[in-house]
Amino acid sequence: MHTPVLSKEISFLLNSALPFLSSFTFVDGTFGRGGHTNIVLNLFPENKIWAFDRDPEAIDWGKSHSEYQSVFWVNDCFSQFDCYVDQRISGMILDLGVSSPQLDQAERGFSFRFCGPLDMRMSKTGLSAKDLLKNTSEKELSHIFWTYGQERRARYFAKVIKQYKGPLETTTDLATCICNSLGIRRKTFGFHPATRIFQALRIVVNQELEVLSQTLPKAISALAPFGILIVISFHSLEDGIVKRAIQSCPKEAFRFSKKPLVPSNLEIKQNPRARSAKMRWIQRWEK
Ligand SMILES: C[S@@+](CC[C@H](N)C(=O)[O-])C[C@H]1O[C@@H](n2cnc3c(N)ncnc32)[C@H](O)[C@@H]1O
Repeated sequence: MHTPVLSKEISFLLNSALPFLSSFTFVDGTFGRGGHTNIVLNLFPENKIWAFDRDPEAIDWGKSHSEYQSVFWVNDCFSQFDCYVDQRISGMILDLGVSSPQLDQAERGFSFRFCGPLDMRMSKTGLSAKDLLKNTSEKELSHIFWTYGQERRARYFAKVIKQYKGPLETTTDLATCICNSLGIRRKTFGFHPATRIFQALRIVVNQELEVLSQTLPKAISALAPFGILIVISFHSLEDGIVKRAIQSCPKEAFRFSKKPLVPSNLEIKQNPRARSAKMRWIQRWEK
């Protein structure tokens, strides 16, 4: 299962923002396992909710649960929301990154904790992480690790990977290649040296930053009067994009969070995957 992050804060925000609205169209751009959709359904059961997820497994899971009968399903990237939703939006949530079921299923290839194919595609289509490693030059790989993984040893790891004589078919192959290059036989605890490499590959395979940059301006301009957009990000590059998109909006027409909201110590204790979450919001504040 997936524990939704910052649920209390989101309930509070929606409760204070949405009663201003006369009609109601909500978009959950990242349905996952429905944690945030549940909050909206509980608060406003009568209203129209669109649930997007680019992962067909998430959409199938939602469709098979009767509590989501009234939901409109879209198995597509949230950047395409305007091709499906033709009303102005009263609320939209983007809870970025991957869900626990994706991370915990070896065959999705997102995590070095399980041995699975080096895949990492949320949509199960397009180039996989394995293809990316194979088709990308050492220089480009180094750029990817440095930019998207903020990995200090980007150049070194790019060289190691390109010169590696063993197979690079599985998550374990890649983790082993990284560990071997540092003289570590097996990493079982603490910060794994492949963490940033995996993060960088996942971001590029799913074009996460491009998709976010394309979506935010469209989503903000699609907000109905008093409509609210909430974005939860999990690393500084995403948060930077969200912050800039929000702060570039005219101050007289919007209210927005000045600083990101972060989970409480209690939430982090109960759900360690929430630890790097940052939430920002923007609300259209004009008729
Ligand atoms: C962090 S989880 C969301 C969890 C959800 N809020 C919940 O509480 O169950 C992110 C989900 O969004 C999906 N996702 C990520 N980027 C997406 C995108 N650009 N378009 C559509 N879905 C996306 C992933 O496939 C994953 O299922």
